[in-house]
Amino acid sequence: TVPYVPYKVKDISLADWGRKEIELAEAEMPGLMALREQYGKEKPLKGARIAGCLHMTIQTAVLIETLVELGADVTWSSCNIYSTQDQAAAAIAAAGVPVYAWKGMTEEEFNWCIEQTLFFGEDRKPLNMILDDGGDLTNMVFDEYPELAEGIRGLSEETTTGVHRLYERMKKGTLVMPAINVNDSVTKSKFDNKYGCRESAVDAIRRATDTMLAGKRVVVCGYGDVGKGTAASFRGAGSIVTVTEIDPICALQAAMDGFEVKRLETVVANADIVITTTGNRDIVRGEHFKAMRDKVIVCNIGHFDNEIDVAWLKQNYGNTHVEIKPQVDKYTIDGKDVILLAQGRLVNLGCATGHPSFVMSNSFTNQTLAQMELWNNKDQYENKVYMLPKHLDEKVAELHLSRVGAELTKLKQDQAEYIGVEVEGPFKPEYYRY
Ligand code: NAI
Repeated sequence: TVPYVPYKVKDISLADWGRKEIELAEAEMPGLMALREQYGKEKPLKGARIAGCLHMTIQTAVLIETLVELGADVTWSSCNIYSTQDQAAAAIAAAGVPVYAWKGMTEEEFNWCIEQTLFFGEDRKPLNMILDDGGDLTNMVFDEYPELAEGIRGLSEETTTGVHRLYERMKKGTLVMPAINVNDSVTKSKFDNKYGCRESAVDAIRRATDTMLAGKRVVVCGYGDVGKGTAASFRGAGSIVTVTEIDPICALQAAMDGFEVKRLETVVANADIVITTTGNRDIVRGEHFKAMRDKVIVCNIGHFDNEIDVAWLKQNYGNTHVEIKPQVDKYTIDGKDVILLAQGRLVNLGCATGHPSFVMSNSFTNQTLAQMELWNNKDQYENKVYMLPKHLDEKVAELHLSRVGAELTKLKQDQAEYIGVEVEGPFKPEYYRY
């Protein structure tokens, strides 16, 4: 086991500030607050020891306190070295939750933090549930602490990249517990990935650089959910947006949405900003860097930092490096400056504060439902990747309607019969794509 450290944050005196922000966020997170209201007395997560590894932000603090309110013991680390909001971590630590997270940690500290979350309290009881974002906690348990897997009822995974890793494990037969894919709930990927990035992509560039976005040429690599939101974000700011894609369907979608679709090679020389959203590796490489104009801004909003070949930049031009401010770095390639944000790590959490609370409430309501389901009904699941049933997806959406003043039309019985659904839903077949 790991020796007991009650918590580790940047500065516990930030807790009061964090608490005030958490209270504001609660008002924007109706899904989570409804779950507290509905299940707070019953405590369906009683006995659960949930280790979570997900950006330690204000919104995540509201998730953590929801899990606690539902009866769980919780430990927490952040799934990115730059994404912690130190006031959020402090508030959570002050509330008695063992949290190990601060903004700007090293990779070594990152692993140390995740490791701390595996064992609970002074009696070092092991975790029995995993809540993950990107799969780093899952990998640590599966690969370094396999003896713990048997005692774990299941895991829920937040993001596209982590979900890929789980399906790979399922294919190889190395998935040793049931998993719920939270990302592909409609109320997650079609909201957080898309509308979340529509708000937070531009926010990140502004906070990092204060550059004028109107009239600038922006290349968005990838037009999946994150790419769609990111491209819309820059369009909304008046930028001229070009999209790159490998998938003809997404390429055509981008074209129909009015974006120019080109190869990076074709447009990189004129780009003012290049942003990767693919969840794939090696998108921006040495040859692209060499073709870029002076003062280009380069960043990534996908989960891992391998979308941009930062290693190439450091290896060849590391001697030109100047830190403008934390998470904003300048490199000079043959007389032309490149501004690299968040060292190529996800920019909206590295240089800004991630998505707004309201959209995260949708994601985290799915997370909480997934944890409740696996904790209470483990026997109904094999060691496979599952999704939450559609009626829960619809319920998550419904919990968020009144906050935006939306009136839902009630289906009549004969109408329901006419389109072949139940009056109470689900309202769409499984194959419907939204
Ligand atoms: P997605 O699978 O919907 O979209 C990725 C798109 O990139 C696909 O359309 C794919 O065809 C395209 N692509 C792949 N290789 C490419 C290449 N070489 N050139 C151009 N396009 C390429 O995935 P999604 O949900 O959009 O997620 C993307 C990444 O963002 C993942 O790593 C995910 O974990 C992460 N993510 C980040 C968030 C944030 O707040 N920063 C929020 C949600 C997800």
